[in-house]
Amino acid sequence: MARKFFVGGNFKMNGTKESIKSIVKNLNEAQLDPNVEVVIAPPALYLQLARDQLTKAGVEVSAQNVYDKPNGAFTGEISVSQLKDSNIHWTILGHSERRTLLGETDEVVASKTKFAVDGGVSVIWCCGESLQEREAGQTIAVIEKQLAALAGKVSGDDWKKIVIAYEPIWAIGTGKVATVQQAQEVHEAIRKWLKEKVGQTVADETRILYGGSVNGKNCKDLAKEKDIDGFLVGGASLKPEFVDIINSNQ
Ligand code: PGA
Repeated sequence: MARKFFVGGNFKMNGTKESIKSIVKNLNEAQLDPNVEVVIAPPALYLQLARDQLTKAGVEVSAQNVYDKPNGAFTGEISVSQLKDSNIHWTILGHSERRTLLGETDEVVASKTKFAVDGGVSVIWCCGESLQEREAGQTIAVIEKQLAALAGKVSGDDWKKIVIAYEPIWAIGTGKVATVQQAQEVHEAIRKWLKEKVGQTVADETRILYGGSVNGKNCKDLAKEKDIDGFLVGGASLKPEFVDIINSNQ
């Protein structure tokens, strides 16, 4: 089965009502490759605004995080059922900024992922190594540990609701994109791990995105690699060049 190209826009803690309306308007009016699944992730406060303004077929809205408990006394959190109530069917989980700045462990991220998919919300699950880990030759081991925590929680059809984003931490927001070879090497290792530990079908069908300083210029070469099935884009998703990234696989 061919994997549908996927491009996510992670706005992080950026934007205003006006700027988000303008990004969405730009997407509504753009010529987008119909063979690409697009998901934009504004800050929680603007999810509903983005959802209400978006008219473009094939473009969905995603949260940047969700909690792994039913509604209740969890100050500051957002639940899976609240996302669905707002017609939001995606969330990013395990972004390195949440792992490093907010202390989310592999196990917390895996637990949130399971809770989201069980509740019918699909997940862009992020993984990636630090510069120190890369320089110590630990890249694949770090990713495999993150994957093992995930695979310890999810199984079977859960994988159909998961997109993996490989985001080397040293490439995020630094302008220092991984080379095509560096990215492809890790993507291939992730697919091999999925095949060996989960199964051939999951390995064949799971989209593996690259993230880290993707822009309108470097996206085309990355998109050509056989194991790169799309992108998770931070900074450039706030700019008009996001459309070029969406269309990079044409
Ligand atoms: P960046 O961020 O494109 O700004 O490097 C990517 C991400 O953190 O998802």
